[in-house]
Amino acid sequence: MHFKLQPGGALNGDVRVPGDKSISHRAIMLGALAEGTSRVNGFLEGEDALATLAAFRAMGVAIEGPQDGLVTVHGVGLRGLKAPVSALDLGNAGTGMRLLCGLLAGQAFDTELTGDVSLCSRPMGRVIEPLTRMGASIQSAEGGRPPLLIRGGQRLQGIHYDLPMASAQVKSCCLLAGLYSEGTTSVTEPAPTRDHTERMLRGFGYAVQTRGDTISLQGGGTLQACDIEVPADISSATFFLVGASIAPGSDLLLLHVGINPTRIGVINILRLMGADITLQNVREVGGEPVADIRVRHAPLRGIDIPVDQVPLAIDEFPALFIAAACATGRTVLRGAEELRVKESDRIAAMAEGLTTLGVVNEVRDDGIVIEGGPMGGGVIDTYHDHRIAMSFAIAALRSTQPITVRDCDHVATSFPGFDTLAAGLGLHIDTLVS
Ligand code: S3P
Repeated sequence: MHFKLQPGGALNGDVRVPGDKSISHRAIMLGALAEGTSRVNGFLEGEDALATLAAFRAMGVAIEGPQDGLVTVHGVGLRGLKAPVSALDLGNAGTGMRLLCGLLAGQAFDTELTGDVSLCSRPMGRVIEPLTRMGASIQSAEGGRPPLLIRGGQRLQGIHYDLPMASAQVKSCCLLAGLYSEGTTSVTEPAPTRDHTERMLRGFGYAVQTRGDTISLQGGGTLQACDIEVPADISSATFFLVGASIAPGSDLLLLHVGINPTRIGVINILRLMGADITLQNVREVGGEPVADIRVRHAPLRGIDIPVDQVPLAIDEFPALFIAAACATGRTVLRGAEELRVKESDRIAAMAEGLTTLGVVNEVRDDGIVIEGGPMGGGVIDTYHDHRIAMSFAIAALRSTQPITVRDCDHVATSFPGFDTLAAGLGLHIDTLVS
């Protein structure tokens, strides 16, 4: 599937983008491990979260739905999972695989985890290392890549782990393994990362301590079922935050978006660039802060992106690079080497696409320098990465020539229906089935 975009246009209207991917994964996992029945509303019916759902069904958990975003999970308790008959395929989902590693390390049975070409090229050593120190037994393909074979029946011991990189996936993996470990498991983060696991564990009645940059829990407790309301994903809303900011005549209201402080780097960065973004109707829903976000076109200026915002906007950089291309002056990103190990090497993939559109940029090991200026058109390779595809789709709002974005099937991992929704708001997008 390719996107074919005509230049220009503006974004207008009210829209609720699909549910948060991080929260949807965790809702299935914790719901499955809880005692009792949990109802999840606003679940993201994207391929990544559906792969996690299928994995738990394969381990004997009865799950109804999803239907119109409603999923009912009949929890089996921390010790109730059953051995799957074949390998669990997590598709494109790094979150699914890394979090599952943690909770499968403590099971009585063996499991094999696999995924698509992109996932099978991503580093899993970052979770294998702490889990092995806890007593887990995990074999990988060369270089710590999937497929992974996790041996069951190991006794796990709580450890303290200093995270070598700011990663919510590694943090969450350790905490989930900690549920099955003797004593205390604690992790110290080099910088704050999304805290949905901690919030949701507390929502399920599990005590989690956060003291400064250290998060800890005791093994051996139980999770009590609860109902979860999944907010709209700020990472999906980002394409419209950037799109409306760069396209003259835009005025959009994004409804019910999660604004967890560990996720709002994109709002902070866009505001520093001069964006016109206001939060309305700020409220808390099921332990997560939520707001309606109004965004109107505004002239943007290039900035040095504050390094402390990087983990808080880690998934939003592909779209932010488009904002930088439309800004006056130079934008500099540093301290973002993690972008190189996402669904694609996002620094390389974005730099290539920007160059195709005639945007001057200079790649660095840990970031990029982008000179704002006119954008032409061309054919963009997404490297099968959903966020690269959607970023170059919104770039057309300011390009002078048509843009073709190749291989957009992966958009369905996080944002099913992006093309239809975006077209309804004013993006000149056609989808060509190849
Ligand atoms: C996620 C954490 C982030 C993010 C990913 C989702 C999560 O990854 O990029 O899309 O749900 O915990 P890292 O923890 O590897 O930075």
